Amino acid sequence: MNVLVIGSGGREHAIIKALKKNKRISKLFAAPGNGGIGMDAQCLPVKAVDIPAMLDLVKTKKIDYVVVAPDDPLAAGMVDALEEKGVRCFGPSKAAARIESSKVFSKNLMKKYGIPTAAYEVFSDSDSASCYVKSINIKYPLVIKADGLALGKGVVIAQNCAEALETIVSFMMEKKFGASGSNIVIEEFLKGPEVTVLAFTDGKTIAPMISSMDHKQIYDGNKGPNTGGMGVIAPNFHYTKIIAQLCMEKIFLPTINAMNEEGCPFKGCLYFGLMLTDNGPVVIEYNSRFGDPETQAVLPLLETDLFDIMQAVTDERLSSLDIKWSNKNSACVVLASGGYPQNYKTGFAVKGLDGNGCAVNKDVTVYHAGTEYNDGGFFTSGGRVLGISAAGASLDAALEKAYRAAENICFDGVHYRRDIGKY
Ligand code: AMP
Ligand code: GLY
Repeated sequence: MNVLVIGSGGREHAIIKALKKNKRISKLFAAPGNGGIGMDAQCLPVKAVDIPAMLDLVKTKKIDYVVVAPDDPLAAGMVDALEEKGVRCFGPSKAAARIESSKVFSKNLMKKYGIPTAAYEVFSDSDSASCYVKSINIKYPLVIKADGLALGKGVVIAQNCAEALETIVSFMMEKKFGASGSNIVIEEFLKGPEVTVLAFTDGKTIAPMISSMDHKQIYDGNKGPNTGGMGVIAPNFHYTKIIAQLCMEKIFLPTINAMNEEGCPFKGCLYFGLMLTDNGPVVIEYNSRFGDPETQAVLPLLETDLFDIMQAVTDERLSSLDIKWSNKNSACVVLASGGYPQNYKTGFAVKGLDGNGCAVNKDVTVYHAGTEYNDGGFFTSGGRVLGISAAGASLDAALEKAYRAAENICFDGVHYRRDIGKY
């Protein structure tokens, strides 16, 4: 079988490394992939969102199965377009991907079906939003979210009315995120540990993966601006068996049932961004895909074949599988370019990797997020460059391995957090 993975980051590299273990896959392709992914799959220079070019590629390369990993091709209807041509896919339809691509859709879904989430209001004009944040009954901080996709930057925690008004102007009038900010959600600020739970679902059965903890801010101590994610541990020690049971009853099953009721069954990987508040777990966000970098810490713990699970999701027979997980701990430390998440330079030589882009130290896995391969070497090409993942009998053992390997890999300006898993 020929399999194509759409996307170009560390998440896609982790998916590809897991798929590589399946003997029925004869050829693995990535579009567009990156330098390190090119060591495990054949990279094809087609943009992840280019639907017509992807349809051509699937035909010319005789692709049997496509994994659509990033949010934007899912939101644009990549799965619908491929399935229309008879190509089997892993990933939700455009209608189901709205659970991530429209915060208004997801918040209204949660309200309608009684799924716990922060109290909120939706605004489609800046005057009424401004009036609302000026009202004397409003408590700060307040959370303002752009409705649409915004590269993970569409959420602002406004500490006071002036910051809230500034955000409304930037999202709705200056159109910082284009049409994504035409509508906004303003919601109450909640407190508590955050947990990511990724789950396989075929729309009938939901199979949560091992929980994880992302570290979004750039600096140690959770300081500085938000990034795509600077490191992950799995499992998340805040997520007990009792909480998992509660989430299954109050959040996971109600969500897939709600999507079915709305006529857009969700098939693929559903990402639950949860906050464990004093009043119980609530949904902070849904994503319609695997998380990045959560996948780089979670998939290494998967013992059942990933391709078998993906096929079962596509064929809607997930209930027939008994998915097995390792009881080890896992950690992923992200090495980023200096200056990320703001401006950063690329093109620096990455030192400390072998010819295949792996660590010299074989007890870790290096996932490439932003590298290019030129003249026999790897060069930086993105903000997040590498994810160094390790598993161990304890969290400390996993972290120790990942950090030991990270110390031996470098490029000009490299930055990584030294406190992954310490919260
Ligand atoms: P989101 O993209 O919706 O996950 O938001 C990004 C981050 O903003 C989350 O991981 C939280 O840390 C924070 N956040 C979002 N919504 C809230 C909320 N209602 N209360 C407190 N923090 C929030
Ligand atoms: N790590 C956060 C995300 O994938 O959206």
